[in-house]
Amino acid sequence: MAQPILEMRSITKRFPGVLALSDVNLAVERGEIHAICGENGAGKSTLMKVLSGVHPHGTYDGEIVYEGQPVAFSNIRQSESAGIVIIHQELALIPDLSIAENIFLGNETATRGVINWDAANSRAIELMARVGLRENPLTPVKNLGIGKQQLVEIAKALSKEVRLLILDEPTAALNDDDSNHLLDLLKGLKGKGITSIMISHKLNEIARISDSITILRDGRTIETLDVTAGGVDEDRIIRGMVGRSLEHRFPDHTPQIGEVLLEVDDWTVMHPDDHHRVVIDNASLTVRRGEIVGIAGLMGAGRTELARSIFGRSYGSRHSGELRLAGRDLKLKTVHEAIRAGIAYVSEDRKGLGLNLLDDVKTSITSAGLDRLRKGLTVDEREEVVVAERYRRSFGIKATSVADGVRKLSGGNQQKVVLSKWLYTEPQLLILDEPTRGIDVGAKFEIYGIVQSLAREGKGVLVISSELPELLGLCDRIYTLAEGVITHEFAKSDATQESLMRYMTAERDN
Ligand SMILES: Nc1ncnc2c1ncn2[C@@H]1O[C@H](COP(=O)(O)OP(=O)(O)OP(=O)(O)O)[C@@H](O)[C@H]1O
Ligand SMILES: [Mg+2]
Repeated sequence: MAQPILEMRSITKRFPGVLALSDVNLAVERGEIHAICGENGAGKSTLMKVLSGVHPHGTYDGEIVYEGQPVAFSNIRQSESAGIVIIHQELALIPDLSIAENIFLGNETATRGVINWDAANSRAIELMARVGLRENPLTPVKNLGIGKQQLVEIAKALSKEVRLLILDEPTAALNDDDSNHLLDLLKGLKGKGITSIMISHKLNEIARISDSITILRDGRTIETLDVTAGGVDEDRIIRGMVGRSLEHRFPDHTPQIGEVLLEVDDWTVMHPDDHHRVVIDNASLTVRRGEIVGIAGLMGAGRTELARSIFGRSYGSRHSGELRLAGRDLKLKTVHEAIRAGIAYVSEDRKGLGLNLLDDVKTSITSAGLDRLRKGLTVDEREEVVVAERYRRSFGIKATSVADGVRKLSGGNQQKVVLSKWLYTEPQLLILDEPTRGIDVGAKFEIYGIVQSLAREGKGVLVISSELPELLGLCDRIYTLAEGVITHEFAKSDATQESLMRYMTAERDN
């Protein structure tokens, strides 16, 4: 057999109080797509950070052999010059800079310190073509959707003469179209001899595109599966990840649906900057107590905008129409008023709206519900710990202590912290925007269980998700949204992926 491009041997990595990797082995063949799977906190990102020098040589035990040579990277620059490029779980582009500037950031084609931007732009166009990105290279990255931003990251990697491309959950935030484009691109790169390592919780994608899969559990290598040999499906991967089969993807739940809780009538919202552009067009919907209601829509349909406009007008301008919660008219103007009124919104964007990465776990969990912790002018710190511990235990948040910084938590565990934070406000209506993005199969099951038990307590839940099987499994009713218009309402029994898709792309239900 040919020599593997990469061998990581007996890698052990400790953080204070945490053994993140214990004696982990990974062998990647030249030119393959090698997936790494495992539950949240299993050590996937850490292993890749060890490989790329984010965690420098000397901070871990074990040996890395790349292209037949032992390597000891002290930083990312060194691994990049060896042709190893990592695209992190949280994208690292600078929003205000252009596509071209982002591609060449830190890698400028400078002659005597002066960057030749004409040459850079034409080189950018060439790289963009290789990833199938048709945009003006001068466009600021913030004007691109997340799918295209991901392509900019890959173009940037190609500009560095990448030989081993590492993608940490590249499709987590992408819709199906963008994901497919990205996966095709990886296959194309493979055809050109570029090896990829990909971390993902989307097991269907993994089963489809990878040649082999290494499974980590609790910081240990469990096994490496050869996908090309056949017989590896999602269930097989799950068995490796959690150590047993997962019979059901959704917990049993008997809905107890009560009276109407939320009523949205003729809700119209304009764009925040362009007050004449309609973003939400005459939307009307209801959520009953005990009911889990889904919103299905393509990227750009206005799902998040709808949710945020309801949540204290935190999106949009010139709002019109009516909102009622438990029969009372709501005239919410701020997020604070929305929280007081009993609405919580769990954002899809953990970093932007959900979490301050500088905070610790307990501060994050209690931050939206501080009213409940006040003792005179100060915050009751003992109670803060008690509250945070309660959520840590009941959600199984993997942290050594609630005083840990959230920055240290794995992606999925950060998501559980965000969910805890909003549950602590004791909302009547919980709006969840992509609640299981980046969450492993086992933790998804737990989160579904939490959502269902909230419904059984008589709360109303509105769920936005790009994963149609998730909406179909979880929701009692589903609305489809297309271009800001609610196009159809489905009872659970009538909805299928196909019927939802039809109305997600429809103009209007007549
Ligand atoms: N900088 C750090 N300091 C302390 N602990 C850390 C640090 N980075 C990671 N950890 C811990 O190491 C373990 C592995 O985390 P890692 O981010 O590698 O998980 P993961 O498999 O990528 O999970 P996810 O699927 O949620 O992204 C976790 O317990 C995490 O809390
Ligand atoms: Mg990770």
